[in-house]
Amino acid sequence: MELVTTVGELRAKLDELANARSGKAAGRRALRGLVPTMGALHAGHRSLLERMCHECGVNVVSIFVNPRQFGPREDLGRYPRTLPADMALCEAAGVHIVFAPAMDEVYPAGYCTNVHVAGLTERWCGAARPGHFDGVTTVVAKLFLMCAPDRAYFGEKDYQQLVAVRRMARDLDIPVEIAACPTVREVDELALSSRNAYLSPAERAVAPRLYAGLAGMQERFADGITSVRELVAAGEEIISGGSEAGPEGPAFRMEYLAVVDPSTLEPRETALAGDRALVAAYLGSTRLIDNVALGTEPNKVRGKC
Ligand code: PAJ
Repeated sequence: MELVTTVGELRAKLDELANARSGKAAGRRALRGLVPTMGALHAGHRSLLERMCHECGVNVVSIFVNPRQFGPREDLGRYPRTLPADMALCEAAGVHIVFAPAMDEVYPAGYCTNVHVAGLTERWCGAARPGHFDGVTTVVAKLFLMCAPDRAYFGEKDYQQLVAVRRMARDLDIPVEIAACPTVREVDELALSSRNAYLSPAERAVAPRLYAGLAGMQERFADGITSVRELVAAGEEIISGGSEAGPEGPAFRMEYLAVVDPSTLEPRETALAGDRALVAAYLGSTRLIDNVALGTEPNKVRGKC
């Protein structure tokens, strides 16, 4: 595995690997995979890396904490940076190249280009975090151009990001296949996230209710309830702790809980199988997001929340 920090080095290394592989594979070109990340890698990222290494012959992970996707009052300054541990995780997964560019390699002096996916990115997380998705689609477009992957892997955990990146690649004719990977969870079903580290023990104890609310919506949908108003009310009741919530414990501040069309993210009034239930909520100063597909079985909630 090699660590490269410039686009020139990345392209040279990719050419070298492609030449070595084409000799071995009798004319069959190895698929080139990319997993874009901001580092602080955990088992959620690892699932993407492992799938890439299984499916592709040339594997790249990018690690770049992208300032353009953080708002002025967000956690850019305290975002965890753990390059040595990240490198070890990549090595163990079988990654060939870790691309960890410096700020001015990605955004040189005078940089002024923006990639904006209209509509899709203006709802939900986009409404709460203005400019966030422009930052994401801009850096992901650049990473696609720098690395030219055949297939790039994204987590369903960040569902709106996945849909926006897929739309961008299609709209700009970037020849990359976007592979969606299921959300990896803790044993109590809290979705893994670098930001879980910010939770206090009391907040961490109630955090799994976010998933429990979504799972409750899946169960009610399976029972035949399709009214989104009813589904959302049921989810909110579970997330707020219902009658069990004590006045002392940390409470969620809901940002949104919705059922949406899985490709346009338009809100539904009547839910259909395959629709996505999306949630964002704060616990203290930590913003958590999660989502599930309706019409699929909820995971068994193994922990107690
Ligand atoms: P980051 O938060 O580091 O996530 C990198 C990838 O890992 C994303 O595709 C994300 O959806 C996926 N991921 C995170 N937690 C996951 C989990 N619990 N299960 C499955 N996949 C998970 O998302 C970003 O970085 C950035 O916005 C980026 C795309 C790199 C652009 O800067």
